[in-house]
Amino acid sequence: MTEPARPPEELGALAQRLLDDLALVTDEPGRVTRAYLSPAHGRSIELVGGWMRERGLDARLDAVATLRGRRAADAPGRGRTLLLGSHIDTVVDAGKLDGCLGVAAAILALEEIDRRGERLPFAVEILAFGDEEGVRFPSPLSSSSAATGTYRRDWLVVKDRDGVPLERALRAFGCDPAKIDEAAIDPAGVLGFLELHIEQGPRLEHWGLPLGVVTSIAGQTRMGMTVVGMAGHAGTVPMELRRDAFAGLAEIALTVERIGRQGANDLVATIGRVAVLPGAGNTVPGRVEASLDVRAGVDASRLVALDRIRHEAERIAARRGLTIAFERHVDVPTVAMDGNLQNAFAAAVASLGLDVRRLPSGAGHDAMAMARAFPSAMLFVRSKAGISHNPLEWSDPLDLGLGVEAMIRTILDLAARERAP
Ligand code: GLV
Ligand code: MN
Ligand code: MN
Repeated sequence: MTEPARPPEELGALAQRLLDDLALVTDEPGRVTRAYLSPAHGRSIELVGGWMRERGLDARLDAVATLRGRRAADAPGRGRTLLLGSHIDTVVDAGKLDGCLGVAAAILALEEIDRRGERLPFAVEILAFGDEEGVRFPSPLSSSSAATGTYRRDWLVVKDRDGVPLERALRAFGCDPAKIDEAAIDPAGVLGFLELHIEQGPRLEHWGLPLGVVTSIAGQTRMGMTVVGMAGHAGTVPMELRRDAFAGLAEIALTVERIGRQGANDLVATIGRVAVLPGAGNTVPGRVEASLDVRAGVDASRLVALDRIRHEAERIAARRGLTIAFERHVDVPTVAMDGNLQNAFAAAVASLGLDVRRLPSGAGHDAMAMARAFPSAMLFVRSKAGISHNPLEWSDPLDLGLGVEAMIRTILDLAARERAP
């Protein structure tokens, strides 16, 4: 039976309820932290899998723990599949929206399409990826990479902070790494991939717009840096004889910041994690392990900055009697979103009576990896004050509802085209 369309206010309230429930699933009571293959990740799969099954989707886990909810076409078409989704892992002390919105919105969009009595001439698969953030293992986008057949086998040997290799964590989670190739989706049968996500930046708020169509996603490089000096007694080793790995890293960090500030094309450079070893207040640090994250909208800017950082860091280390080693974990080029799907999102936004603005993404997204194999596009929802990767992350529920409605209209527009002779 056909039900009246729910207005964006109601869709937004429903989305918020799902997001609130998902945010309760955490590895750290009192804050939202859901790491890949952690107990909370397992519980979030049960919760989201339940939402999928209640709405008639056939939900299963693939070999890299991506939750995949599928439903068949319910009208004649060309035998293709539309992919929707985003990720359900989070950063440490996260908000409720990053990634989770794209999964909740996809589920609600399909529910609402059914309520409106619309039939789709393609199968739909909702993908809830588990390793977008790359927080537990230095393998961001590994789950969406598996869906495109571009999983890197060397990821299997990377270790988390407790020394657990990714391969062992996958097995302990019930996944079979030998079957990762089977997680690849054949591009021949795929219409495209659509991801709704919060902007995580301030542009839409500045323009006074709830939604924006993404043009491209900034390339990113993520590395590990290890600085080695000489541990010693904090009371007896004179300052001029020290080879303090942390002091060296501190100088390198300021250099990274300077190079980031000098760069063009939205270049940003971040050291977000530092482990000072052996980690005692009365010991001169002998070793420091740090992350380095460099991004830009134009690949040449990122690559030039990386070269400069490396050169300057080696110079600083040599002057201080330290050694420095770099390990490159991720190198993803800037990716353009599919023009036709961008236009489909733009038409849906315009049909809501909203101005259409297009913007690049500085944050990384599963759509970056998905674009390697499938036409992919993203729609952004306005973020409050551009805050993200922070528990203060927030979007007005009405904006969330407009995002869900735009997703519904985009899917129905694609359905009309798929039926057309
Ligand atoms: C994902 O949030 C990223 O780091 O861009
Ligand atoms: Mn995200
Ligand atoms: Mn994120």
